[in-house]
Amino acid sequence: MKRVLSGMRPSGKLHLGHLEGVLKNWKRLQGEYKCFFFVADWHALTSEYANPSVIRESVEEMVLDWLSVGIDPEKAVIFLQSMVPEHAELHLLLSMITPLPWLERNPTYKEQLREVKGRDLSTYGFLGYPVLQAADILAYKADLVPIGVDQLPHLELTREIARRFNYLYGKEVFPEPQPLLTETPKLPGLDGRKMSKSYSNVILISDPPEEVRKKILPMVTCPHRVRRKDPGHPEHCPVYSLHLVYSRKEELSHVEKGCRGAEIGCIDCKEILIKNILENLEPIHERRDDLKEQRGIVRELLKQGSERARKVATKTMEEVREVMGLTL
Ligand code: TRP
Ligand code: SF4
Repeated sequence: MKRVLSGMRPSGKLHLGHLEGVLKNWKRLQGEYKCFFFVADWHALTSEYANPSVIRESVEEMVLDWLSVGIDPEKAVIFLQSMVPEHAELHLLLSMITPLPWLERNPTYKEQLREVKGRDLSTYGFLGYPVLQAADILAYKADLVPIGVDQLPHLELTREIARRFNYLYGKEVFPEPQPLLTETPKLPGLDGRKMSKSYSNVILISDPPEEVRKKILPMVTCPHRVRRKDPGHPEHCPVYSLHLVYSRKEELSHVEKGCRGAEIGCIDCKEILIKNILENLEPIHERRDDLKEQRGIVRELLKQGSERARKVATKTMEEVREVMGLTL
């Protein structure tokens, strides 16, 4: 069976953009492939090294989100990067063969150095971010890596490192991993831009019903609907973009016609959206509450998952040490 691997940096609670764009995809994949999903806490450390305590807190919330939406530790291996030290060893060995210019020309690196304020990213570890990512992927000889387009340069670098390794040591140790791009359109946030924590326009998966309501009711709508009797254009309204994801056919056409003909008000329209989002979130919140009551469950699951992951990574490392002449 083909192997799938993907990771996420722990950045706190996840939002509906993560749910629609990433987690639903992972959920489908866990039934079709041998999947490894992990928390990239060392990657978070490349930029949060001065404040590592925020990482610890984020791990638990993020994994609770994964589990509550149906990522299943019986189907996929769910683990914590720092509990599998083989990633660090492979990172070290790959760093020996990775030419510096490959890292220096990495577009993500150059962009972050320019854009990120308030942190000094001119470190060895941050430059090596993609080498660590290559180690994550190659330690499991992953065939497929579900990622967003922003991560394509990192995967290409992984493929180049794999090729170089195989060539230098004369053995096809690593298969070249392929990207699995998610086609789901970007979920709009509360302001109509892409839903993203950095825009403060998110609905969290774990937001309680009153919070969801409080966020949606004041949302901007179609600029043409100044008064109730003004007809609107749903295609210019972020509320409607969310309807497209969360409302069923009949309600969609009711809202669409009502908006164009000025037959419904924006508040009525938003109430329908709120109802549908809450219907979607209800089972997720139930599971999340259940899990939260079982204290220490995330830690325990990550420990077990990391042991399973380690078995696979250990086997790869034996082969790597062998071809590199590191065995006594
Ligand atoms: N860099 C990825 C991100 O920011 C996270 C990540 C780390 C990852 N290691 C990985 C993704 C390995 C896929 C495979 O989203
Ligand atoms: Fe947007 Fe709905 Fe108002 Fe139309 S009725 S402008 S779709 S919120």
